[in-house]
Amino acid sequence: MPPTLFYGTAIFGTPTIPSLTEPEGVSKLLDSVHSLDITELDTAARYPPDNTGGSERLLGATRAGSNFTINTKVLISGTSGDGSLSKDAVRASVANSLRTLGVSNVGILYAHAPDNATPLEEQAKDFNEQYEKGYCERIGVSNFPLDMLEKFLKICDECNYIKPSVYQGEYNLIRRDPEEAIFPLLRRHKIHFVAYSPLGGGFLTGKLTAGNTEGTRFDGPLGQRFKALYDKPELHASINELKRITEPLGISPTAAALRWLAHHSELRQEDGIILGASKIEQLRQNVKDIKQGPLPESVVEAIRAIKVATTA
Ligand SMILES: NC(=O)c1ccc[n+]([C@@H]2O[C@H](COP(=O)([O-])OP(=O)(O)OC[C@H]3O[C@@H](n4cnc5c(N)ncnc54)[C@H](OP(=O)(O)O)[C@@H]3O)[C@@H](O)[C@H]2O)c1
Repeated sequence: MPPTLFYGTAIFGTPTIPSLTEPEGVSKLLDSVHSLDITELDTAARYPPDNTGGSERLLGATRAGSNFTINTKVLISGTSGDGSLSKDAVRASVANSLRTLGVSNVGILYAHAPDNATPLEEQAKDFNEQYEKGYCERIGVSNFPLDMLEKFLKICDECNYIKPSVYQGEYNLIRRDPEEAIFPLLRRHKIHFVAYSPLGGGFLTGKLTAGNTEGTRFDGPLGQRFKALYDKPELHASINELKRITEPLGISPTAAALRWLAHHSELRQEDGIILGASKIEQLRQNVKDIKQGPLPESVVEAIRAIKVATTA
């Protein structure tokens, strides 16, 4: 069985995708998500980055909480989590998320990013408080480095606080650093890995390499972070290599990347993949591709030799 599929709503409310700025368009997309048997949504108080809070507002306006489990993250400002996990900040963020979403609790409540300005003891206590109040079913951390997560877990053990049971990180066919950096610790502590950007924000579709970026994320502000990560000659060479391996077999690079992640990566059934799609057709295709099952062994073998991005 492949890992659990989540749908990521980070683009809900971005002015760059007009169809997803109003409840009608969002409702239509969410109906399709539900019809594909995806029952968990990923959002964040911060989403979308160019209209903070817009994603949660649209999820609230469409009453998504009555059909889906919603997982959210504590508000960060910009890309830095500094100050976001203080007692007051966590309390204010969670209260606002629950009110906006129109729900009494969320599934997973995440720390969105490391907070180097707040003592870890305070952070662990804050999350324990939210859990004890019944505002979330599980707690999670995202983008934490290994040593920070280790300390966080130690504090939870010592103070008898609820421990994170989910880690959210970027993981895909050419972004493989979590395999060595983080998976061994997660497995020891029975923490599930939820992979975001399974297509590298669209890079693994081959659009940027081919220069076909009109009307895509790479055309606007949301693509900047992904360009900074992936727009590198050696990674474009990896995309061309992936196409060389898969296209003669009638497999698109998008399908190869998703099938690799779902069926050949370090992910297990209890882990998760957050699918991102800006169009219903993309989402349908992605779910269909994953259902095709494992890739031919020759493809998996050839993929092993593809150069990967090593740093964030
Ligand atoms: N914790 C964190 O820090 C963090 C960071 C990033 C993301 N996330 C979460 O993970 C979710 C998914 O991330 P992501 O959006 O980067 O995922 P992704 O799957 O790597 O990228 C999604 C983009 O790829 C393109 N795409 C997807 N399927 C396609 C298809 N079949 N054909 C052609 N293009 C396709 C679309 O780009 P176009 O729109 O350009 O067509 C789509 O918007 C987010 O919504 C968010 O919930 C979390």
